[in-house]
Amino acid sequence: MIELAEVHKSFGRQHVLRGVTLTIPPGKITVIIGPSGTGKSVTLRHMIGLTQPDRGRVLVDGINVATLDRRGLTQFRRRFGMVFQHAALFDSMTVYENLAFPLREDGGHTEAAIRTRVRERLQAVGLSGIEEKMPSELSGGMRKRVGIARALVLQPAILLYDEPTTGLDPLMTDAIDKLIMAMQHERPITSVVISHDVESTFRIADQIAMLSGGRIVEAGAPETFRRSGHPIVRRFLEGRSEGTPGDPAIDETMR
Ligand SMILES: Nc1ncnc2c1ncn2[C@@H]1O[C@H](COP(=O)(O)OP(=O)(O)OP(=O)(O)O)[C@@H](O)[C@H]1O
Ligand SMILES: [Mg+2]
Repeated sequence: MIELAEVHKSFGRQHVLRGVTLTIPPGKITVIIGPSGTGKSVTLRHMIGLTQPDRGRVLVDGINVATLDRRGLTQFRRRFGMVFQHAALFDSMTVYENLAFPLREDGGHTEAAIRTRVRERLQAVGLSGIEEKMPSELSGGMRKRVGIARALVLQPAILLYDEPTTGLDPLMTDAIDKLIMAMQHERPITSVVISHDVESTFRIADQIAMLSGGRIVEAGAPETFRRSGHPIVRRFLEGRSEGTPGDPAIDETMR
């Protein structure tokens, strides 16, 4: 289980997270939605200890992330797979080496086992046979899918996906949604997915949380969420992006 309690985070004078309180249940898929620039990626980075809170606490399976030293953090991060919003591949390595990297760090895998796992994961994201390509030879969507494949190579207990389907076509979005759900069936995995796609959100979510203005303004099961009266939630559900006068601007990615 992941718990954020009253998490505050500022960058310079910008107060981004203003008391985020959120419980991520184990073995389920939680989708975080919200306007662009509201702190969704920052929230996700807190969960894996890439960013530390100014105030408040982040607990993962009872461990307070702020109490970990460098070595502790490295150990801690082994429970996670993370799909970064902008793929974050190693540009100087082939696709094969990018995917093999976490397995080599993990240790104890033969080259044959690595090759098999890499092939399986690439196949799962619809990219068979691109092992020898360099990231610069791939399209943005392909890089994104290689990033997903890499996050899944170690079969971690917790998977964090930062907009895994943004920029992908509907067929590929569907395939990635199915993959996120299929990972869940292999064994119980705690998944946190950032999305701005309404259909995709309702297809995969066990729980939905809306972040806006640096706080969680609504969280619950999809059915409860659908009945929410919160104006920002309503706008997300109705797929409208235009704000009414006086409302905070809603970014076009909310469409
Ligand atoms: N390392 C950082 N240094 C300074 N400012 C940062 C840093 N990381 C995030 N921010 C700021 O915090 C705010 C929230 O950023 P974040 O990336 O979490 O938004 P987001 O909700 O993920 O948006 P999007 O939907 O566009 O991805 C932004 O204004 C961003 O500029
Ligand atoms: Mg983001």
